[in-house]
Amino acid sequence: KAIRLEDYRPPVYWVDRVALAFDLDADTTRVQARLEVRRNPASSDPNDLILNGEDLELQRIRLDGRPLEPARYRLEADRLILPGVPERFTLETEVLIHPAANARLEGLYLSEGMLCTQCEAEGFRRITYFPDRPDVMARYRVTLKADKTRYPVLLANGNLLDEGMLDDGRHFAVWEDPFPKPSYLFALVAGRLEKRTDTFTTMSGREVLLELYVESHDLDKCDHALDSLKRAMAWDERKYGREYDLDRYMIVAVSHFNMGAMENKGLNLFNSQCVLARPETATDDDFERVLAVVGHEYFHNWTGNRITLRDWFQLSLKEGLTVFREQQFCADEASKAVRRIEDVNLLRTRQFPEDEGPLAHPVRPDSYIEINNFYTMTVYEKGAEVVRMLCTLLGWERFRKGMDLYFERHDGQAVTCEDFLKAMEDANGVDLSQFLRWYTQAGTPRLEVACHYDAKARTFQLNINQWCPPTPGQPEKEPFLIPVTVVLLDPEGREIPLQLAGEAAPQGSERVLALSEAHHAFRFVNVERPPVLSILRDFSAPVKLMLDRPLDQWHFLWRHDTDPFNRWDAGQTLISQVLLAQIDRNAAVLDPHLVEGFAPLLQQPLADRAYTALLLQLPEEDYLAEQMDVIDVDGIHRVRETARRELAAALRDDWLSCYHAHHRPEEWADTSAAAIGRRRLKNTCLSYLASLDDPASHDLALQQYRTARCMSDQLAALRAIVCDAHPAKTETLADFYDRWRHEPLVIDKWFALQAADPSSGALERVRKLLAHPDFDLKNPNRVRAVLGVFARQNPVHFHARDGSGYQLLADWLLNLDRINPQVAARLAQPLTAWRRYDPQRARRMHQALERLRQADISKDLFEIVTKALEG
Ligand code: ARG
Ligand code: ZN
Repeated sequence: KAIRLEDYRPPVYWVDRVALAFDLDADTTRVQARLEVRRNPASSDPNDLILNGEDLELQRIRLDGRPLEPARYRLEADRLILPGVPERFTLETEVLIHPAANARLEGLYLSEGMLCTQCEAEGFRRITYFPDRPDVMARYRVTLKADKTRYPVLLANGNLLDEGMLDDGRHFAVWEDPFPKPSYLFALVAGRLEKRTDTFTTMSGREVLLELYVESHDLDKCDHALDSLKRAMAWDERKYGREYDLDRYMIVAVSHFNMGAMENKGLNLFNSQCVLARPETATDDDFERVLAVVGHEYFHNWTGNRITLRDWFQLSLKEGLTVFREQQFCADEASKAVRRIEDVNLLRTRQFPEDEGPLAHPVRPDSYIEINNFYTMTVYEKGAEVVRMLCTLLGWERFRKGMDLYFERHDGQAVTCEDFLKAMEDANGVDLSQFLRWYTQAGTPRLEVACHYDAKARTFQLNINQWCPPTPGQPEKEPFLIPVTVVLLDPEGREIPLQLAGEAAPQGSERVLALSEAHHAFRFVNVERPPVLSILRDFSAPVKLMLDRPLDQWHFLWRHDTDPFNRWDAGQTLISQVLLAQIDRNAAVLDPHLVEGFAPLLQQPLADRAYTALLLQLPEEDYLAEQMDVIDVDGIHRVRETARRELAAALRDDWLSCYHAHHRPEEWADTSAAAIGRRRLKNTCLSYLASLDDPASHDLALQQYRTARCMSDQLAALRAIVCDAHPAKTETLADFYDRWRHEPLVIDKWFALQAADPSSGALERVRKLLAHPDFDLKNPNRVRAVLGVFARQNPVHFHARDGSGYQLLADWLLNLDRINPQVAARLAQPLTAWRRYDPQRARRMHQALERLRQADISKDLFEIVTKALEG
């Protein structure tokens, strides 16, 4: 059942051209396909043509214009096989498919009356018979025919060649994509849509038409996405010299969508959550996500579409690289420090646990049962870190030279991770063979760091060991090539010029040390005074740092580190150590370090207010969990909440004056970085104050809720009201619902906020949400807002000792799996970490998984559940 990288065979047949004709209808759509097929001279396999196909009703099949007798082909459940076909021929097929019945949201499906497609990874085979693999690249011409009133807009990839009326009152459109592409990038849309348009002039002076298609009531939520798109297009020209290549760039907002968005050539489809935004209904976080996802999908045009994948094992070749480009883009467009912190937070709270658990896999996996299960934190986020390390090791100029060669050499090809590294090597004359291990070995490496200052010799000795724990199927690991960025700070917090033993003179103050062995020793000389080490600056590698030092040194770095990431991280380390020790001792006394760290930030916030807000954040519960051998969900929550309340009380006046200093209601529609920063800082203050649970803070939250004109402020106030036992909780939630009942994306927030509410009775509340008339198992956003949020963001109740949270999730996964296996498999993942919990919880999680395994489940869910039980 498992597919393995080592079994890769080049395709036996190429398809040069595809002509598709769709008779579109929600219940039954007719798909006619004409493929121009040609033998691949490089393949020595037998001359059978094997086409993928699932849930297709074959009506007709013709070879070179003549009907094919049933004896000349074999129809299996998921394949169509034509033995002994000629060197070159035309194959025509006609199939029927049923979009309205397609709840998996893969292939052609119906979303709010609109017909649309999702083909990555293997959805095209649910549309027509085809060699549905990314290394078969073809030119597509697509004819769409449909009822004109129901489907006035007809879109597909590329350029519009023709459109008009048909005799029977229907209309048609013909689209052609001049660029060869793999089938996973195919897309079509038919619906009653309106559009907002704009233009972008490329660096060579071509004018590109930009179109964003939405339902008419969302026309007021388009500006930000269009603006983001123009910024992304300009950025990719400036930063990478990459220009857009078609005359038209279309984006369509879709309300039922399994993932965030899809980079189909010239016709991106977006989860409406990742594209629609205006200040009244979307938060600042939403605005930032729109910028990021619009950028991400746009950057795929070069890293993914023009250069695509040989096979799905190479997924990170496009995803890791594109996430890295997206990160660079967002860092350039707003606050570098904030974006880096958010990325590392995500990596450490979500990817690190994946690497420690039964689903651990390398950035380039070597086997899978269902490829959709490998759109993971490891492939995306760790994959991006791997590209970032290359950039750190080579430096930006040399990295860019490598990228230029990669684009030049592989444009129009379907390639591998090795091809990418080879371009980096050849452009720079370096050997990256050891670096390849980041793609092939799973697990998070540990860096054990010890240092010693010798006052007499005036030397600073730095010893670093690396090792990596075993992961499923990989008991031993070879050392990685790890860039470790270091600086030494003097007692005033100034960077010291660095001179390694053997060097004639100091060379700058920041060094990238490249570790290639299991043990390294570095000796810095001429160090006049005892320094403080700032290491792994900007999180230069996705590793766990193990460095024991007195709290005072972390505290010093929290105030003085010259690297904004490390400064924030020092605070997180310090607070984590304090809180973890309190969980151990089962006691909680406010540590004076915390108040001393927070007070100056409140009294004199840094110029970057959003960054200041992050410095004032306690480590997330899942970050604390990640650092415990046996996760104590109750202890973590109790200790963290106590710290929050005590900090609120100890610094009450500071929180309050900082709140008022940054409360600018008149800025509600301003989404500049500065205004967002002020709102973030203010709402951070509000969340601390709300924990005080007294009339003054109740008033403050309610006042903000009532007067807020933007969703950021309204939701922050609502969160303070919901999560901190406010007397007006019930009526405010009801008010919010009434106000926004016609905005599904806002109602998702209403569901999510309640699913995350940690106060007692959570399970009952979640049951009620699941029974609410607006809950819909067919809408992934709604399902994630309730089940996903409950399992990930309400740990105390999801992990209730009696197993009731696990049971609820398993019950609903069984329902969901019959509708949408891809989403079910994803939502099952919180159960897979069972080994990290105490025996009682572990047993109950195991039972829930066991129950799923016994049921009749999809292969998507089966892969997750069995690996979790075995791993
Ligand atoms: N390529 C898309 C993106 O990252 C993700 C699509 C994944 N879809 C899926 N069914 N697994 O931009
Ligand atoms: Zn992507």
